[in-house]
Amino acid sequence: MKLTMNLPGIPPRTSDVIIGEGLLQDLPAALRSYLEGRVAYWIWDENVWNLWKERIEKWSWGEWLKGHLILFPASEPNKRLAAVEELGRQLAVAGADRESALVAVGGGVTGDVVGFLASIYMRGIPHFQVPTTLLAQVDSSVGGKTGVDLPEGKNLLGTFHQPGAIWMDAQFLETLPDEQLRQGMAEVIKTAMIGDEVLWKYLESHSEAIKKRERDALVRVVTACCIIKAKVVESDERESGYRRILNLGHTVGHALERLSEYRIRHGDAVAMGMVVAAKLALKRGLIIRGDLDRLEKLCEAWELPVRIPPEFSPKEIIFALKTDKKRVGKTLHFILPVRIGEVMDCDDLDMGELEDALASLRGK
Ligand SMILES: NC(=O)c1ccc[n+]([C@@H]2O[C@H](COP(=O)([O-])OP(=O)(O)OC[C@H]3O[C@@H](n4cnc5c(N)ncnc54)[C@H](O)[C@@H]3O)[C@@H](O)[C@H]2O)c1
Ligand SMILES: [Zn+2]
Repeated sequence: MKLTMNLPGIPPRTSDVIIGEGLLQDLPAALRSYLEGRVAYWIWDENVWNLWKERIEKWSWGEWLKGHLILFPASEPNKRLAAVEELGRQLAVAGADRESALVAVGGGVTGDVVGFLASIYMRGIPHFQVPTTLLAQVDSSVGGKTGVDLPEGKNLLGTFHQPGAIWMDAQFLETLPDEQLRQGMAEVIKTAMIGDEVLWKYLESHSEAIKKRERDALVRVVTACCIIKAKVVESDERESGYRRILNLGHTVGHALERLSEYRIRHGDAVAMGMVVAAKLALKRGLIIRGDLDRLEKLCEAWELPVRIPPEFSPKEIIFALKTDKKRVGKTLHFILPVRIGEVMDCDDLDMGELEDALASLRGK
């Protein structure tokens, strides 16, 4: 299936999202129609390349990759300016110029780094994304945010640079470690809570199919998530307001990640953050108890935590979220669920309310 995102600008831009299974075999041919004569340089996550190279060789992509393949050792610690410089140098040596384009094949780290590089290489060249993790397929590859980390914080250097097209192939998820699938599921649950009750019900009854990597189930889930993310990005590309709804669970989630010095993984942190948001919503009478229970149950089906580790006190968490470097202005925005499939942006949250919710969810 193909979704076309329409983005404002002069001239208006489009970004196609192509979702399916078995797309990879014909990717070079599909890409050709987007390149408009440009030469593609492929930057592959090295782990993914090692897992997939034999199959790629069989599919006779050879001509496409000859002299145009760069391997990137993707990991969060390597999501740095130094990596961007290193890849830029490799491109320069290989002869990439303003008529080139980049193709990122990998998870969110590769996508963010390559997108950033494309936005600045020779003052900007087009790029394409081929996300290979669940998180990258349902979240990071769509929307045009690119960036790298600083020691002072994650994603503090970055740009908006929309990919010309994004190919999501469920096939890739077959080699994804279970832990990565689990982490990505937190974003899937988040997306369903934001805008798709039908997807939610599907998740409630298809955890096993997803765990078994049944391709139909994966395509179903990725498609539903991309439809929502694309809609949000189309209406607020640069996160001046509406796009904030994608941050459900992330305010407390980021605070927990930072407090734990990233021992708590992103998906786990987001799951806890969503439960906190749902608890706040319950206390405000926005949602019914049953919806909070359903959220906890769905998270538990994926072994995503629903209680906050006791070593972090509510006060510490509030301090951490107030000092988040990426916070905009003085107002603290909190995305709260209204029911499954709908959220609201709340900017009048009282810290006492938050402290109570955090205390009531503190684990033993
Ligand atoms: N740009 C955005 O809007 C946005 C949104 C959310 C997250 N992000 C960023 O995304 C990053 C996290 O992305 P991620 O979770 O995909 O991490 P990642 O890119 O580090 O990938 C996770 C691990 O899985 C491996 N891997 C990737 N695909 C595989 C496959 N098909 N089979 C086997 N192994 C595979 C990678 O080599 C890596 O070891 C973070 O840096 C985060 O800041 C960006
Ligand atoms: Zn996230």
